[in-house]
Amino acid sequence: YPVESIRNFSIIAHVDHGKSTLADRLLEITGTIAKTHHNKQVLDKLQVERERGITVKAQSASLFYSHEGANYLLNLIDTPGHVDFSYEVSRSLSACQGVLLVVDANEGIQAQTVANFYLAFEAQLAIIPVINKIDLKNADPERVEKQIEKLFDIPIDECVRISAKQGTNVEKVLQKVIEKIPPLKALVFDSTFDHYRGVIANIALFGGEIQKGHKVVSAHTKKRYEVNEVGILTPNEQPTHKLYAGQVGYLIAGMKEVTEAQIGDTLFLYKQPVEPLPGFKSAKPMVFAGMYPVDQTEYNNLKSALERLTLNDSSVTVHRDSSLALGAGWRLGFLGLLHMEVFNQRLEQEYNMSVIVTAPTVPYKAVLSSAKLIKEYRKAEITIINPAQFPDKLSVSEYLEPTVLGTIVTPQEYIGKILCDRRAVQKDMLYIDEHRVILKYLFPLNEIVVDFYDALKSLSSGYASFDYEDAGYQAADLIKMDILLNGNPVEELATIIHNDKAYATGKFLCERLKDAIPRQLFEIAIQAAIGKKIIARETLKAYRKNVVAKCYGGDITRRMKLLKRQAEGKKLMRKIGNVEVPRDAFIRVLKRQ
Ligand code: GTP
Repeated sequence: YPVESIRNFSIIAHVDHGKSTLADRLLEITGTIAKTHHNKQVLDKLQVERERGITVKAQSASLFYSHEGANYLLNLIDTPGHVDFSYEVSRSLSACQGVLLVVDANEGIQAQTVANFYLAFEAQLAIIPVINKIDLKNADPERVEKQIEKLFDIPIDECVRISAKQGTNVEKVLQKVIEKIPPLKALVFDSTFDHYRGVIANIALFGGEIQKGHKVVSAHTKKRYEVNEVGILTPNEQPTHKLYAGQVGYLIAGMKEVTEAQIGDTLFLYKQPVEPLPGFKSAKPMVFAGMYPVDQTEYNNLKSALERLTLNDSSVTVHRDSSLALGAGWRLGFLGLLHMEVFNQRLEQEYNMSVIVTAPTVPYKAVLSSAKLIKEYRKAEITIINPAQFPDKLSVSEYLEPTVLGTIVTPQEYIGKILCDRRAVQKDMLYIDEHRVILKYLFPLNEIVVDFYDALKSLSSGYASFDYEDAGYQAADLIKMDILLNGNPVEELATIIHNDKAYATGKFLCERLKDAIPRQLFEIAIQAAIGKKIIARETLKAYRKNVVAKCYGGDITRRMKLLKRQAEGKKLMRKIGNVEVPRDAFIRVLKRQ
């Protein structure tokens, strides 16, 4: 395929507007996959993606398409839609020259439609608006086209109306891709680890060609490799003889260590060095949490699982950490809470690891006033990503918290309900049609990180949508709060919060914990404390003995079965002092609903 018949494009959209379904249809029409009714989200390869019905990792596939006597190679790069994953979106876009902007004909423009449009617009890509789900009873494509014209300044006649589900007009989309998207070349964008074949690097070729036997050098590590295999993604790896300039595909070159294949790296032919391509903007973690093996003997297994998983998800940052109560572990940085949950789920499902995760915290800062601490840290302003390292008020002149600029798109009747108690400051408000408004608010990041998205969805019966971007730091009156069980601190739940919220949050956490911990043979005091001061308390009453007695007894096999089940259950428990707490209790406690 000569460069002029290659098109590299992405599909971008708000969550659930139908990207994956459209991708399925494009794969079918071009004969890349057979047409059966089993083709549901073919590009969503990860188990967590299928279970949650969302796209997390950008996938790609090469489509072969003939139109008016000419043959084309169309490289499709799928992207995730949820707010937490916009890093993946911009990474995918840097490998493209154009995008299909999918908008649901019923829901219209949503917060991530706006965010994704600007990502594509800033990257100077050709943008083809695709109005999907026109088969729905409530579909109103005219209204959506008007929104697109008003907000994005794209003429109404450039929109394509389709039903991805039924296949209506999908062929037209392919023709638009050929007409509107300029042919060009792209960049390195992903890598995965295969137990048998080592590192598989997904690459895009800017110039030249590459094949088995070629020697390549990594601009990043300067290491040399011999290429074992190259191929295209259909979307599974399919070996080919060569890859040419403008093609997107994969390369296997005996990289064994996961750290050898850096996303954003440039490879060049041995003895023919080139100027490295500009890498990707590195992702900025917004949420940090501690991660520890349930059992310290699992430390090394967890370490290698983390290395492999972070190779495939380079937006996660990893620092070694240790704690008195939890032993040796790590502090991980994530893009958001959903990202953190998905990462944990992948650890469990793909690597069979169970871990202890601490309460998420945002990256706070402190301006130090104590000469001793300044000397120790060798600087006056420090970033705090672990509540255990929160410096005392006496040694600090100011605490700072990260803020974000949030965009909310909502039908007007929900405006009042949405913002109570989030310390938000309104910045802007714009009606996009008679019913919907776009609102901009400055939020402290910690007010939205855990549950804002879910709360917004349920308050607005699913009609409001949300996106946010970094907006720097502001001064804040912060304190560290501990949670105690019979006087022993629960390390997982130590948090840094705003002073004004300490009492309410302390009370809330104690109440929730009371529900999440099963009754035991003794009374348990659940307390929230700031330093030595107790600010909230709940009491969990003891079991009555005869209730327990009743469970045992009976015949011996039943008794053995119960004991076995109890032993299995213990693995899922964490002992704090003499209190047993289900490991998943903490995450449940932290979510407000
Ligand atoms: P993420 O991967 O989470 O970003 O979602 P997505 O944008 O890929 O959406 P997906 O393709 O998973 O579709 C979301 C839902 O909309 C699914 O239940 C689809 O069956 C449905 N859907 C997609 N296209 C159409 C359509 O043209 N008509 C109708 N009625 N439903 C559709």
